[in-house]
Amino acid sequence: MNEQQRLQSQQVNSSDKKSDQDYSKYFEKVYQPPSLKDAKKRGKEEIQVHRDFEIPEEFLGMGTGKKFYIRTYGCQMNEHDTEVMAGIFMGLGYEPTFTVEDADVVLLNTCAIRENAENKVFGEIGHLKPLKMKNPDLLIGVCGCMSQEESVVNKIMKTHQFVDMVFGTHNIHRLPNILREAMFSKATVVEVWSKEGDVIENLPKVRRGDIKAWVNIMYGCDKFCTYCIVPYTRGKERSRRPEDIIQEVRHLAAQGYKEITLLGQNVNAYGKDFEDMKYGLGDLMDEIRKIDIPRIRFTTSHPRDFDDRLIEILAKGGNLVEHIHLPVQSGSTEVLKMMARKYTREQYLELVRKIKEAIPGVTLTTDIIVGFPNETEEQFEETLSLYREVGYDSAYTFIYSPREGTPAAKMEDNVPMAVKKERLQRLNALVNELSAEKNKAYEGQIVEVLVEGESKNNPDVLAGYTRKNKLVNFKAPKSTIGQLVQVKIIAAKTWTLDGELLEKPIEVK
Ligand code: SAH
Ligand code: SF4
Ligand code: F3S
Repeated sequence: MNEQQRLQSQQVNSSDKKSDQDYSKYFEKVYQPPSLKDAKKRGKEEIQVHRDFEIPEEFLGMGTGKKFYIRTYGCQMNEHDTEVMAGIFMGLGYEPTFTVEDADVVLLNTCAIRENAENKVFGEIGHLKPLKMKNPDLLIGVCGCMSQEESVVNKIMKTHQFVDMVFGTHNIHRLPNILREAMFSKATVVEVWSKEGDVIENLPKVRRGDIKAWVNIMYGCDKFCTYCIVPYTRGKERSRRPEDIIQEVRHLAAQGYKEITLLGQNVNAYGKDFEDMKYGLGDLMDEIRKIDIPRIRFTTSHPRDFDDRLIEILAKGGNLVEHIHLPVQSGSTEVLKMMARKYTREQYLELVRKIKEAIPGVTLTTDIIVGFPNETEEQFEETLSLYREVGYDSAYTFIYSPREGTPAAKMEDNVPMAVKKERLQRLNALVNELSAEKNKAYEGQIVEVLVEGESKNNPDVLAGYTRKNKLVNFKAPKSTIGQLVQVKIIAAKTWTLDGELLEKPIEVK
């Protein structure tokens, strides 16, 4: 962290705060909200990698006898940040709890991707108020992507003053300091760095399970799609060094993890920021595929940066699974241009062709936005036709949501909400139709399933995923949890498959 970032760590005075000790005079800094403008300025200074993270001795034991609760919204990046924050809490001596009533610290790790995501969080902050009134010593914190938005921070300061801490995505390693300030301060502690931080290695982590694990390979996004808030909330693209990633994956393999998902907002830009070498995602995957771990996935891919080298490596198969999530957003070249996706419909289809040719039987899934400003009926129909042409197995579909500060939010929009909703319904009908069709083709086939645990709806049934990320339900002894087993598919549903465990392993081609 540099001096400028430190100066952006701020403190706000707000009324009726807890605490009988008044330490606030130590933190009298002028409050400035995070700035989307500053967030957009991509620093030229080289990214520093810090390998010496440890919890300062003065903080050890700070959480003894106390409990923390973290509620996570949004994508895998946030889920994984929660694992890091849980690791820091445990390092401080806190214990986890799964009910807010029981907690001494409640954190909301928030998502800013669409308006409804933000509304949910404000609803939840409101629900926490009575708890805070009952127990003034309870610490409430808001972190994650929403904390990086100036309008959100201003709203919290104005109307939710009982929130004790607001901190951003670039400074979660500062959690011990922020917690201590919040404990002793009368004021809401606001520590948000508008500009991205460095890459911090050796952060503690408490992973959510012992079968599948997430590994960050890069942070941030420089793509600036016109509708998207992520480049502002997550900062510029910065890659972890390959040796650090490989060491983490090796370590997870040694611990018995069976599946790794490599994470980044735009993993195909991996390595572009290295000044000392030419090294991309293909090179990284080529090294990781040699590690003795059954399955490696990665998310999310940006079509623009998906290069031939990566396709060539993925074609080697082995632990590299034949499923690629490849968000297209729209099937219309004009809309893609307005979105600044930097590829055309034809270029996307050509990429799909190359991938299918190199990886026979590959499964593709995608993300689609309908109702982008001024999207015409014809342009929407191009999305439908592209969906069919690619033959996706499934998709996450969204109605466009304007995000303050992004270029698209300033565009005039002549598409009424009713039309957007109707388009979403039509798209979803197609998504369901193809998903059911694809699943039907599995009937009678034998698939490899990584058994994850009991099915959500029926504890007598176990559930797990295939290499292509299909959810399979089947009866099997609990001892198979965490194992790879062969399952024969007997019935397909729209979203899941029902199967039978094969006693004897059968060679799957
Ligand atoms: N980095 C990933 C996606 C991150 S956000 C990528 O580029 O593919 C996940 C998805 O949310 C996006 O793919 C997009 O479909 C959707 N999304 C992002 N911003 C949105 C907005 N303003 N309104 C509606 N959907 C949005
Ligand atoms: Fe957002 Fe585009 Fe970056 Fe994905 S690539 S996070 S959609 S700006
Ligand atoms: Fe949401 Fe931030 Fe992820 S906006 S989708 S939590 S990167």
